[in-house]
Order: sequence, then C-alpha cells, then structure tokens
Amino acid sequence: MTVKPIVLQLPLDLEKEKLPRHVAVIMDGNGRWAKKQGLPRIMGHKRGVDVLKDLLRCCRDWGIQALTAYAFSTENWGRPLEEVEFLMTLFERVLRKELQEMLAENVQIRFVGDLEALPRSLQSEIERSMAETRSNRGIRFTVATNYGGRQEILHACRAIAQQVQQGLLQPEEIDKEIFERHLYTAGISDPDLLIRTSGEMRISNFLLWQMAYAEIYITESLWPDFNRTEFHRALAAYQQRERRFGKV
Ligand code: IPE
Ligand code: IPE
Ligand code: MG
Repeated sequence: MTVKPIVLQLPLDLEKEKLPRHVAVIMDGNGRWAKKQGLPRIMGHKRGVDVLKDLLRCCRDWGIQALTAYAFSTENWGRPLEEVEFLMTLFERVLRKELQEMLAENVQIRFVGDLEALPRSLQSEIERSMAETRSNRGIRFTVATNYGGRQEILHACRAIAQQVQQGLLQPEEIDKEIFERHLYTAGISDPDLLIRTSGEMRISNFLLWQMAYAEIYITESLWPDFNRTEFHRALAAYQQRERRFGKV
C-alpha cells in the first residue's frame, strides 16, 4: 500500500478566487519565544524552521502560488557572533536536508539578497538548490537571506548607472519595468499580503519597493507559535480588505 501525502483542503470560509497570489512573511519573535521557554535564542530559530516548512506546505495545499520568507536581514549581522554562525549553519543544513523533498513537491526555490557575502559553503548549497529546482512549476518559494530593501535598491541603481555610463541606456528610458528587472526579485510578482509575527508594527527593511501595495497583517503570535489556524485568520482578514490601488 502506498501512503499518499496528506493534502488539507482550503477552509470552507475562504474564497479560492480571492486568495493572495503571493504571501510574504517577516518571521519574527524566535528569540522571545525561546526566552519564554527558558531556552537559548537559537532554539527559537530551530523551531522556526519547522513552522516555515509547514507554512510552505499549507500554501501549496491551499493553492497559493508564491511564498517569500525573510530569513536574515543585512542588519542581522550585528547580532552576537554565535547566533549569526548558528543561523548560517542552520540554513545550510536545512537546505541540504530538504532539497529532495522540495524536488518531490515541485517547489521552485530562489534566494534573494547579497548572497556573495554569505559563507562559501552556504553559497554552494544555495546555488545547488536553485539550479536543481529551477524547472519546478509548483509553488515559488523565495528566501530573503542577507537581504535589505535599501541595499537591493542601491544594487539596482549601480547596475543601471553602469549601463547608462556605457551608453547602453538613456536616463529617460529608465522606467518601472527596467528598474524591477535589476532587483533581486526580478520575475517574481509583488507580494499581495505581508504577515509579520510578534506584534512589531514595522517593515524592518523588507521588500521596500515591492511592498508598495501589499496588505499588511500583524499578529501578536511569536513565529514559532505561528500555525495553520493563524494563517487561516490572516487570509480571512485579507479577503475582507478592499484593495483600491489609489483608485476609488
Ligand atoms: C526572527 O526572530 C529571526 C531572525 C531575525 C533571524 P528574532 O531572532 O528577531 O526574535 P526576537 O525578535 O529577538 O524575539
Ligand atoms: C526582521 O526581524 C528580520 C527577519 C525576520 C529576518 P528583526 O528582528 O531583525 O527586526 P527588528 O530588529 O525587530 O526591526
Ligand atoms: Mg526580531
């Protein structure tokens, strides 16, 4: 007998046509969660990985096309060295461990951020996972690592300025489309819904350009406590919103 993977259906009160196509998450509160349990901060990060895995599966089950997760910001280097090193090793280990399952589940993984500043061995795992899942056409899973919205915009400006300098582009030709082609997220649609856990009411340098018209949902839950029930609540709130995009 073969065991079929369990696919949980979309909750009945959610309308399939009104689901966000792209959900972004600021996974915040790992450290506070660990502290509450009397554990070292890193245990919160470890637990946070399981939560992200389940959210990815849930998005797939419920028919959401893209998920982007903020894993490490350009400012997070300012944390204690042991925590930074733990996170880098954790990312590498998880990638190595999960690649087969991502292939089996048709996940296309992509990393955005200044990847060249990451440890060499992590860069190799990142390159491998992106290359091997490139032709997958299931959910698009983007992980923001050493990512900063300001850094991304500057990086795009530099690349465009170089093209202008070389005479390949006129300044007046620079428009939204050309600019977006130079962002790390080129080819990925803007997030429709941004979820931030742990109650903080800020963006923390995440997807500054892409977030222009995202609906924002903030929950007091700490990331390691986030689950399908919480996600269901966020989607239900999203479906109540009226997205006007500046019109009436
Ligand atoms: C988010 O949780 C994870 C990362 C930034 C890597 P935190 O580590 O920021 O947890 P808190 O906000 O200190 O509780
Ligand atoms: C944002 O969380 C970064 C990630 C979730 C990776 P932080 O914990 O770094 O943000 P601040 O410091 O509370 O703004
Ligand atoms: Mg935090």
